[in-house]
Formats: sequence, structure tokens, C-alpha cells
Amino acid sequence: MAIKIHPTAKIHETVVLGMNVTIGANVVIGPYCLIGMPGEHREKSAKDYGVYIGDNTTLTGLVTVDSGVEGITYIGENVYVMKHAHVGHDAIIRNNVTISCGVKIGGHTEIDPFANIGLNAVIHQNHHIAHWAMIGMGAVVPKGVIVRAGFTYVGNPAKCIGQNKKAPVDMFTMFSQNSEV
Ligand SMILES: CC(C)(COP(=O)(O)OP(=O)(O)OC[C@H]1O[C@@H](n2cnc3c(N)ncnc32)[C@H](O)[C@@H]1OP(=O)(O)O)[C@@H](O)C(=O)NCCC(=O)NCCS
Repeated sequence: MAIKIHPTAKIHETVVLGMNVTIGANVVIGPYCLIGMPGEHREKSAKDYGVYIGDNTTLTGLVTVDSGVEGITYIGENVYVMKHAHVGHDAIIRNNVTISCGVKIGGHTEIDPFANIGLNAVIHQNHHIAHWAMIGMGAVVPKGVIVRAGFTYVGNPAKCIGQNKKAPVDMFTMFSQNSEV
């Protein structure tokens, strides 16, 4: 258990770090973030598998990322997380994901590359958000909703309204539209 911070990372003086946190190169962590606090789990919060934050990722401020209680909480490279967002214990946020203000990501949820989670969206624990998915502002994504790669979901419960306009145009030919990954 240790705190490892790459020398090029910029961590604001008000950030609170847990005991088991690894922070990569060029990471920026803005004011009042809490990184690596105990996972919010009634039985397992004493486990501290820690938090990993990959290179070039930014947490702008007031972001909370809880420590894993079964494995590490992982944030990949070039992830951008805006204020008041929360990343629950054991979540896996892969490279190039965008997480907007106020988003709540339940424990163990995995978010694949280039997905974009809009303002104040809520993702159920143990969920999977596929690459290049767009979750609209204010959406609630319950466990039964499968989020397909490259599609946009809005509302409560979230429903698909079509392709993500920001997804690369060729991805719908590169990947099967029926693949529920
Ligand atoms: C989901 C989103 C990407 C859709 O954008 P779009 O593809 O351009 O879609 P449109 O604005 O044309 O809307 C299409 C339909 O979905 C509805 N809709 C769009 N966003 C919605 C949302 N978040 N919740 C519910 N309905 C929504 C629109 O009202 C419209 O309905 P209609 O066809 O009945 O008129 C966008 O509305 C959104 O939520 N973006 C995220 C914004 C954000 O969080 N920004 C971060 C800023 S820091």
C-alpha cells in the first residue's frame, strides 16, 4: 500500500489522497478532490485495493474516486472528469472517456473508450457502457438497459435515440450494429 505520484502530475494542495493511490504522468487533479477514500460498501469498506489514474487524465475539481474493495478502481489515460462527479469503488474507466459534472457511476461499472457521460447522468452499479456511447444529460441507466457501442441514450430509464453523432462515421461498418458489447 503506497501513494505513488509521477513527478509531472499536478495535484492541488487541497486534494485528499487515500493510502493506496497511483497517479500517472501529466495528470491534473484540481481542488477538493477525494481520491482513494474507502469504497462505499457496508461489509467491504475496510478493503483498500486503491485507485490508479493513468497518464494525461484530468479531474477538474470536487471529484471523488473511491478505492476498490475487490480490485483496483481504475481510470485510464486521457480521461476527463468534471466537477462533482463520483466514480464508485472498483469502477473501470477506460482511455479517452469524458465524464461531465455531477455524474454518478456506481461501483464495479466499466466504461469503455471514448464514451461520453452527460451532465448529472447516473449509471447503475455493475453496469457496462460500451465504447463511443453517449449518455445524455440527466439520464438514468438502470441495470436492464444494454448500452451499445456508438449509440446515444437519454431519459429515465435511458432509451436509445440513435447513433452518437460524435462517433467515427466508420465505426458502424467496422463493428456489428447488433453487437451488444
Ligand atoms: C443526448 C444528446 C447528445 C443528444 O443530442 P442530439 O443527438 O443533438 O439530439 P437532439 O438535441 O436533436 O435531441 C433529439 C431528441 O432527444 C431529446 N433529448 C436530447 N437530449 C435529451 C436528454 N438529455 N434527455 C431527454 N431527452 C433528450 C430531444 O428533446 C429530442 O427529442 P424530440 O426528437 O422528441 O424532439 C444531448 O442532448 C445531450 O444530452 N448532451 C450532453 C450535454 C452535456 O452533458 N454536456 C456537458 C457540458 S460540460
